[in-house]
Amino acid sequence: MKKFTLLLAMALLSAVPTSAKKAKSEPLTIDPTPRVIEIATDRTSMVLTVDEDGSLMFDYYGKKLDDPTPFLSKKSYRRVDFCTDPMAYITQGGREQRQASLAVTHSDGDLNTKLGYVSHTVDSRGSAVVTTVQLTDSKMPFDVRLVYEAYPSQDVIVAHSEITNRETGDVRLRNYFSANISLTADRYYLTQFGGAWAREMSMFESELTRGIKSISSQKQVRAVQLENPSFMLSLNRPLDENTGEVVAGALAWSGNFDLSFEVDDFDILNIRAGINPYSAEYTLHTGETFITPDVILTYSGEGAGEASRNLHDWARECGGVYDAENACPTLLNSWEGAYFDFDPTVLKHMIDDAADMGLEMFVLDDGWFGNEFPRNSTKQGLGDWQVNLAKLPGGIDEIASYAVSKGLKFGIWIEPEMISPRSELARKHPDWVVGRNTGREMTTTRNQWILDLSNPEVQDFVFGVFDNTMKLSPHISYIKWDANRHVENTGSPYLGADEQSMFWVKYTQGLYNVYKRIREAYPDVIIQACASGGGRVEYGALRYNDEAWTSDNTDARTRVFIQYGTSHIYPSVMMGSHVSTVPNHQTGGITPLKFRFDVAMSGRLGMELQPKHLSDKEKAFARNAIATYKQLRPTIMHGDLYRLHSPYEKGNYASLMYVEKDKSRAVMFTYCFEYRGRDTVCRLKLTGLDPERKYRLREVNVEDKPVFWGEGMVFSGEYLIDEGVNLPLTKRYTSAVFVLEAVE
Ligand code: DGJ
Repeated sequence: MKKFTLLLAMALLSAVPTSAKKAKSEPLTIDPTPRVIEIATDRTSMVLTVDEDGSLMFDYYGKKLDDPTPFLSKKSYRRVDFCTDPMAYITQGGREQRQASLAVTHSDGDLNTKLGYVSHTVDSRGSAVVTTVQLTDSKMPFDVRLVYEAYPSQDVIVAHSEITNRETGDVRLRNYFSANISLTADRYYLTQFGGAWAREMSMFESELTRGIKSISSQKQVRAVQLENPSFMLSLNRPLDENTGEVVAGALAWSGNFDLSFEVDDFDILNIRAGINPYSAEYTLHTGETFITPDVILTYSGEGAGEASRNLHDWARECGGVYDAENACPTLLNSWEGAYFDFDPTVLKHMIDDAADMGLEMFVLDDGWFGNEFPRNSTKQGLGDWQVNLAKLPGGIDEIASYAVSKGLKFGIWIEPEMISPRSELARKHPDWVVGRNTGREMTTTRNQWILDLSNPEVQDFVFGVFDNTMKLSPHISYIKWDANRHVENTGSPYLGADEQSMFWVKYTQGLYNVYKRIREAYPDVIIQACASGGGRVEYGALRYNDEAWTSDNTDARTRVFIQYGTSHIYPSVMMGSHVSTVPNHQTGGITPLKFRFDVAMSGRLGMELQPKHLSDKEKAFARNAIATYKQLRPTIMHGDLYRLHSPYEKGNYASLMYVEKDKSRAVMFTYCFEYRGRDTVCRLKLTGLDPERKYRLREVNVEDKPVFWGEGMVFSGEYLIDEGVNLPLTKRYTSAVFVLEAVE
């Protein structure tokens, strides 16, 4: 990644996370002069207006408007005593009955807040145009700033709020959401992404009816595994790939979250997104400001596909994913191939095989540490991050140096937020364990407890785990950061009795403090966010992480669905995607090696198996596929994604295509995962190509013979878009990958 972009991203990041800081205490006065505030991107507008009592209203989010001023006239139809129109930031005690984004107990015990407009500014920051609207309470010296960063060419608006207490005593924040968005339509169709461990990012669509639908988590760590903090909202009709109005959003927060969707008695939809207030009252001392996490929003008038492409562009170009321009090495990860059962010889053979197949990195997963409590199973050892010298007498450097001598980079696994009850660390620091302060019986999951990241000493320790691991060898290029349980019993031994409800927020702030320190010290190390698979697939973690492990389920058939869902919100450049063995260790499923490669090649390609179990023929196929992937990687990582057929739709197949920005090259993937009948073909229209150009079509990863009659032929873009290709993929687990190169 270019250094400039990196520094810019770091500057943006340091402004972002939730934190308390001292506020200036000049008095603020409400200015009720009606006015329009437009937050615009190249193709979208968001419109706020100031009403005649100074209330800030949310009037519009959608297609770009030539002139937003008519919204100003709306105010004369509004009744200040009975508000039907939505406000821009709904407070308990304002002129609103919808769910409050802000509910606080003021220093005098008053539960009400009524915000009025004070002023607003418009500034540039990098490529973003930042609109900041200053609001203040009508009674108490208590302020909110609403911040909207508009990214013009990506058509993305990133919103958050900043809440300042200038009262003479503490204010207790009960709800402190990031933003409200209101939409008006006849019908609202919500697509959410979630599922379960090993079934992450499954897609569910439902029509919203009167009342409140919430997507939320109270798990704190691996918070997003069962529900992802993201959505696509289709207006008036179910979500379609290429048509219809869609608002998509994602919250950048690695802890408890809540996205709620309230259809009110006027059939207006109010979306509220932010930190989950459940059990999380936060005390804001005099002079402090609380900065809420970012909500990333986009609007598309052309269906889900355009909404995804907007989010992907923002993630890659505006710091949403760390160092997204960097090439991502293909890798062999040791986990499913060796688990805990390795020694230097096993690892060196794996490295030899990885090098022989043309892979670019070897990653040593769990099991390399602990001496008194050696980590030879999940039963013990977390916290004791010294090399297990009985297992690896030459240390990590012996293995890392060996990898480098074979032309590979080297990566290593850590799980620094966790602690095994059977560990030296548990003996030394019972005061660092979440829940130990309660005196209650401690529960474990995967035989582990959680370290209290709200404690700065623990933050130092976690940073030290990363730092010391990096010092085990000068040849470490990659860290896989895992986190394998969530918080059940709460309790911070560090926070005071009256601060316990702040644990949830302070844990995530602590994590971000550590991430920031790591990025300052190690800007170029590739980091994978893993949390029992997809527990950290969210833009809060991705700001600091180059990639995420989307699921522990490596079965290629399931991955078609997981990656398809993930692609709606997150770009391929963050999507770790590995070829594993069969029968698959999670599902027992058996898929051909070609199918597994074809699926994994649509993300960041890796392998996670014991290569010595592959036949020579399979190794030859792998070698060829890896070489092909390296050539196609720039298109797959940085091209525009066009989803051509959903695995959820009729037909039992899925197809997607990445198209380079200048439309000179495209890579198309098609997967058939059930027998489809003898005379059925996959009919695919290659939207996304340039209709004016001609493309040569070539199949790669061919096993026997090409599947398409047009192999090697030149087609007009128009033909490929309008007529498309008909692929005779009818048998279960058949697949095809095509490259389309523009020839004129
Ligand atoms: C869970 C991860 O998701 C796996 O990939 C692997 O790293 C194991 N943890 C190791 O314990």
